Amino acid sequence: MPRVRVRILLAVVALCLGLSSCQLASAAVEEGSVLTCSGIVPMRYRNDKISITDFGGVGDGKTLNTKAFREAIYRIQHLRRRGGTLLYIPPGVYLTESFNLTSHMTLYLAKDAVIKATQNTWNWPLIAPLPSYGRGRERPGGRYMSFIHADGVHDVVITGENGTIDGQGDIWWNMWRQRTLQFTRPNLIEFIHSTGIIISNVIFRNSPFWNIHPVYSSNIVIRYVTILAPADSPNTDGIDPDSCSNVCIEDSYISVGDDLVAVKSGWDEYGIAYGRPSSDITIRRVTGSSPFAGIAVGSETSGGVKNVLAEHINLYNMGVGIHVKTNIGRGGFIRNLTFSNVYMENVRKGIKIAGDVGDHPDDKFNPNALPVVKGIVLQSIWGEKVMQPGLIMGLKNSPFTGICLSNINLHGVPGPRYTPWKCSDVSGATSQVSPWPCSELTSTKQAGICSDHF
Ligand SMILES: *[C@@H]1O[C@H](CO)[C@@H](O)[C@H](O)[C@H]1NC(C)=O
Ligand SMILES: *[C@@H]1O[C@H](CO)[C@@H](O)[C@H](O)[C@H]1NC(C)=O
Ligand SMILES: *[C@@H]1O[C@H](CO)[C@@H](O)[C@H](O)[C@H]1NC(C)=O
Repeated sequence: MPRVRVRILLAVVALCLGLSSCQLASAAVEEGSVLTCSGIVPMRYRNDKISITDFGGVGDGKTLNTKAFREAIYRIQHLRRRGGTLLYIPPGVYLTESFNLTSHMTLYLAKDAVIKATQNTWNWPLIAPLPSYGRGRERPGGRYMSFIHADGVHDVVITGENGTIDGQGDIWWNMWRQRTLQFTRPNLIEFIHSTGIIISNVIFRNSPFWNIHPVYSSNIVIRYVTILAPADSPNTDGIDPDSCSNVCIEDSYISVGDDLVAVKSGWDEYGIAYGRPSSDITIRRVTGSSPFAGIAVGSETSGGVKNVLAEHINLYNMGVGIHVKTNIGRGGFIRNLTFSNVYMENVRKGIKIAGDVGDHPDDKFNPNALPVVKGIVLQSIWGEKVMQPGLIMGLKNSPFTGICLSNINLHGVPGPRYTPWKCSDVSGATSQVSPWPCSELTSTKQAGICSDHF
């Protein structure tokens, strides 16, 4: 990953105005370095620009703009301007039904531009289930198409000046609550079989279901995004990379009703048969809150998940800080995960790694398909007001190995609601973990305690 040098010149100038020790100060702040995602997919600038208003788009919040979006994107797809085309969404509220993106395009939302989903649930298009799930995630059969949908595209950017993509999900959440959903709710945005995608400087609001769902895709950068949904909105996961590789998520704020980020790879016998893992996923400088997990892996991990790094994460008012979850019947593997520099405050469980989480697509899952969980490093984790520091429960016939904890301080809440660590069917090592976790994990003073487990 590239190192980008950041010169903090303004700070130096300010210091130099009033200080005689100016030279000393400037030496100290002249350069720092920050790791970023920018090398994974280069930002594209488009010479050809069109506006949604050129296609009859009206941003009054009432006019239906489906035709304008579909025609603008048809024009981008069929005129094929060299270097691609930028579709500009000016300030205003553009109500529309779902639409598909195409390759070589930038969807650019101006400041105060809102692309708003209709609540016409009765004529929302249906698409086939994902092969790695065998059915819709919450209802059998097909599923409602994502509000913004992309299948088999490359070189797509969604960006701008922090305009909003609003799913108006409450009508869908109520259908879920009243059990009147016929099919699985739409994601706010989904990329299938796609590559070279950047999503940056956009606000996502009130998704009907998961917010951002890249699946069977690679080379994806998601940065400077804000994702918002009420804490009680069902299944509004923030970002779910699913059977994807080379994904980088950074500098974002996510406050939703389910996991902030959850890395997945398919569901039981369907995911095992499809066999596409998620790998090389970086998540850094993400802040947020949720009644469920901060950074999660699973529970759908049947294609396997490996090489995940989550660092500099800040979590407030959480159900679970870090959650690695799988189940009997999942098969697959979870290997080489690193969680480092995580701060959490007011959480029910700090760390949970468990093999009995989540449901099954049907009763055809193979009870002998046990997941293999191996090589999870958790280091430099600080928690305040943590009701239970951790729970690590492997499977009797497939114990979790190489679980390594170091430099972890999870401060409890005083009183009867505090629950100590709980472990079973797990092996690994700990160093400087407070409170002390459990005898299943060997205490050691050695550095690099787990480097041989991946
Ligand atoms: C959008 O994509 C879906 C799935 O790929 C397809 O079924 C549908 O026909 C497309 N819609 C339009 C308007 O192109
Ligand atoms: C948009 O939001 C991001 C992330 O919150 C922020 O870093 C950036 O400065 C904002 N940009 C504009 C143009 O407001
Ligand atoms: C483990 O994952 C990290 C990313 O977190 C990666 O840099 C490293 O190469 C992986 N190790 C192995 C042995 O694959």
